[in-house]
Amino acid sequence: MYIDKVKKEMKIPEKVRIFDTTLRDGEQTPGVAITPDEKIRIAKRLDRLGVDVIEVGFPAASLGEQKAAQEIKGLELNAKVCGLARVLQEDLDAAINSDVDYIHTFIGTSPLHREFKLHMGQEEILAKSVEAVEYIKDHGIIAEFSAEDATRTEFEYLKEVYTAVEDAGADVINIPDTVGVMVPSSMRQLVADIKNVVNIPISVHCHDDFGLAVANSLAAVEAGAQQVHATINGLGERAGNTSLEEVVMALMTTYGVKTNITTELLVGTSELVSRITGVKMPPNKAIVGENAFAHEAGIHVHGVLQNAETYEPMKPEMVGHTRRIVMGKHSGARSIRSKLDEYDIEMDEDQFCTLYDQVKKLGDKGKMVTDADLQALAETVLGKP
Ligand code: KIV
Ligand code: ZN
Repeated sequence: MYIDKVKKEMKIPEKVRIFDTTLRDGEQTPGVAITPDEKIRIAKRLDRLGVDVIEVGFPAASLGEQKAAQEIKGLELNAKVCGLARVLQEDLDAAINSDVDYIHTFIGTSPLHREFKLHMGQEEILAKSVEAVEYIKDHGIIAEFSAEDATRTEFEYLKEVYTAVEDAGADVINIPDTVGVMVPSSMRQLVADIKNVVNIPISVHCHDDFGLAVANSLAAVEAGAQQVHATINGLGERAGNTSLEEVVMALMTTYGVKTNITTELLVGTSELVSRITGVKMPPNKAIVGENAFAHEAGIHVHGVLQNAETYEPMKPEMVGHTRRIVMGKHSGARSIRSKLDEYDIEMDEDQFCTLYDQVKKLGDKGKMVTDADLQALAETVLGKP
């Protein structure tokens, strides 16, 4: 593949850690609220899926958030249990009291955040960031630091902040593209430039305002980022975050990068999160949508029936999905015959031509022909009651 040619020039790590933020940024999806019990169900599932870190919420936000964090920690999962905290004493204490293994602390660093949200200057923000990281480390907890709105922060200042928190003992620095303004080329360059000045692992947190969150996360990995923040079904503030299922499958199949994810559990996990949050996936959603492995056009179905790789970049079973052959006006005779075989329906050539015409007529009326429709049409053609 062409990617193999270009991959050699990239700094792609062998393995990428998946930091799941479905229960934190994902819960910030407008209209979504997840109860502590539902958080526990999702956390257990995420752990089975194999994510490395589960950001369970924002403990300072409510007692329910703290309780959920404590209960999830009590499950003794393989994944690290993380709480989000601003660089404020009360937030850090709420996270520490929730018994988490890992604190993701953050403060806005861009001019917009400094002037309109925080009313603080660069030095004060830098000092608070360092204090927060030191405080977390004094409690023996893993510290990840995010410069919120990093991608709209002056680069020299951003470097200063990240090097200062590294010196203060941060274990990971995260680069949030808070309002999704990056494109893959700028993300790749930013990560490469930050990598030149810090030695701890670099993580990225991309938002999907321009539909580029997955592409930007992949570009970050191309430049050497070792961790990606993601959410199941791409849930999150506004247009959402990097979709976990998409970024993982692209990393593993396109780049050959390892993750700890058991990919066969992706569709089931997506369905669980969709049921609990009430956010339905569009049928054409990559990897987990109901059409992700559905084929209608006769030319495609013919190819797939000979060798599925002709029109599938990965096997549906790899992600817990199933292949579907769908009937409609683009169907060819082979698709219809394969469906008849599937249902053990036998007919002669004339009957088949009649059935074929009826499928096409329905398709021309803008109708999709379901398996049940096809069976009913076949029975009529065969003269069965
Ligand atoms: O998008 C963002 O910047 C965040 C921060 C809390 C890291 O979610
Ligand atoms: Zn975010």
